Amino acid sequence: AQHSLTIDERLHKICEILEANVSYYNWVGFYFKNGDKQELKLGPYVGEPTDHIIIPFGKGICGQVAVSNQNFVVPDVSAQDNYIACSITVKAEIVIPIFVNGQNVGQIDIDSNTPDPFTEADERFLEFVCKEVATLLS
Ligand code: SME
Repeated sequence: AQHSLTIDERLHKICEILEANVSYYNWVGFYFKNGDKQELKLGPYVGEPTDHIIIPFGKGICGQVAVSNQNFVVPDVSAQDNYIACSITVKAEIVIPIFVNGQNVGQIDIDSNTPDPFTEADERFLEFVCKEVATLLS
């Protein structure tokens, strides 16, 4: 019999593959716009559970990307004043927006326990992942 995965199951698999294959990807998750509210809601993720299920637009790295529509690469989270800490082990973060029909619908968020690990290659790769995710969602 055919077994088809739900969208959330597919997104969770993407998180698992990323976390398992890139040594400096230590928490990998998705946040999505929560209905028509000006906030993000946590989707599938892999890594330590976080208290930050809802993030208002503008707040933290994730909330800023919801507003800016731009990649946000943070080499050193301790140097950010608008940052939401999830775990004291996290040193760096990258957030890449997901666009469906030109609209910023959410993002992939990756935390690293390694200082300054993310390169432009990570940005290009994660942009590609986000485009694939956009096709899953549309
Ligand atoms: N650090 C993020 C919050 C989400 S956690 O990393 C899972 C931020 O500043 O928006």
